[in-house]
Amino acid sequence: MTKSFKTFLKHTAKDFHNQSVNPPVVRASTIIFKSMQHIRKTQAKAQKNPIGGHYDYGRQGTSTTFILQKILTKLEESYHVFTTPTGFGAVFLAIFSVTRPGDEIIVADPVYSPTRLLTEKFLKEFNIKTIFYNPGDLKTLEKNITKKTKLIFVENPGSNSFEFQDLGKIVSIAKKNKILTAIDNTWATPYYFKPIKFGFDMSIVSATKYYSGHSDVMGGSLAVNKKVFSKVYNAERITGLRLGPDDAYLITRGLRTLDVRLDRHRENAKKVAAFLSKNKKFKLLYPYKKDSYNFRMWKKYYSGASGLMGLKIKAKNINSVKKFVNSLKLFGYGYSWGGFESLALHQEFRETGNRKYLNLSKDEHLVRLHIGLEDPNDLIADIKQALRHLK
Ligand SMILES: Cc1ncc(COP(=O)(O)O)c(C=O)c1O
Repeated sequence: MTKSFKTFLKHTAKDFHNQSVNPPVVRASTIIFKSMQHIRKTQAKAQKNPIGGHYDYGRQGTSTTFILQKILTKLEESYHVFTTPTGFGAVFLAIFSVTRPGDEIIVADPVYSPTRLLTEKFLKEFNIKTIFYNPGDLKTLEKNITKKTKLIFVENPGSNSFEFQDLGKIVSIAKKNKILTAIDNTWATPYYFKPIKFGFDMSIVSATKYYSGHSDVMGGSLAVNKKVFSKVYNAERITGLRLGPDDAYLITRGLRTLDVRLDRHRENAKKVAAFLSKNKKFKLLYPYKKDSYNFRMWKKYYSGASGLMGLKIKAKNINSVKKFVNSLKLFGYGYSWGGFESLALHQEFRETGNRKYLNLSKDEHLVRLHIGLEDPNDLIADIKQALRHLK
């Protein structure tokens, strides 16, 4: 019987041994064996099959983390998935695994601001040069490729500015030039777009967001194809960047309802977007209106959209934008997203960082909304009452 992934998520990892629907949290630093021979046997198995779930020390994981990795590998349709203590840990691991002093990397201009800090500032100290490309003009990517270019790092859509890129073109440029590719796919998750199947070498998801879904856990995943597996495997062992079993348990539990939650986030976001798109005071940054390049690029590659969107607001008085955000009653103010609840954030330099291609004039402001699982009519009514402050 072929089971859809939705069914798989509900039925996988039942623990008949302990008679629990969810697998237990196995906490261990020491993995105990019956004899020295058993340790050696396990080590030999691990050497032969590094993705087979054979571990001899808690830093490599326990059955709890291994189960999560197995589920994610199926979701990603990848060769393997590494799990990290935070989403940013997965970003770091991807880059650290494949770059060395003297290399160059080309990075999408609107990446998540800590990714920008890592690539622009920190890597420079290790003699790794970063060039940022314009997400809407891939000539700025192609013309910067040199013999030293090792990696193209994409985030789609752009962080807080929500540009959708021509992913097919990026992968084909990379393949033509024998350059590795990584994408931060946190916004869509592999539920809506599967990067490894599509042709990327590495795919990052902050599990802190939709995977866990309840704003109470941090984690990351890095899916890889066979080509880069050994490089990431070695780097992961050297850095010790591993998710702990308690967080792995919570993320596995969250995944049970990933499809249901994401479908609802999408439905709610679509209703809110329909309301917002009618307002002339701002530009909606979400794949809703069919007549834009962003919409076409989204439609070409994605089977759905999540609940995170932006507003580009034209206002002479920045205080009116702040007042608008502060007057929202059902939207919490805080970082992160992907949980069951709605959130709002006024973006300033701290969030967008030092971008070259942002194209934001002095009287344009960015606001990010995460559309949660509340009744969308309540969310729309809340936005309506707050809009009166926008001048
Ligand atoms: C697109 C994206 N990638 C990565 C991260 C980092 O994830 P974490 O907060 O789990 O470290 C974030 C966090 O906000 C993010 O928005």
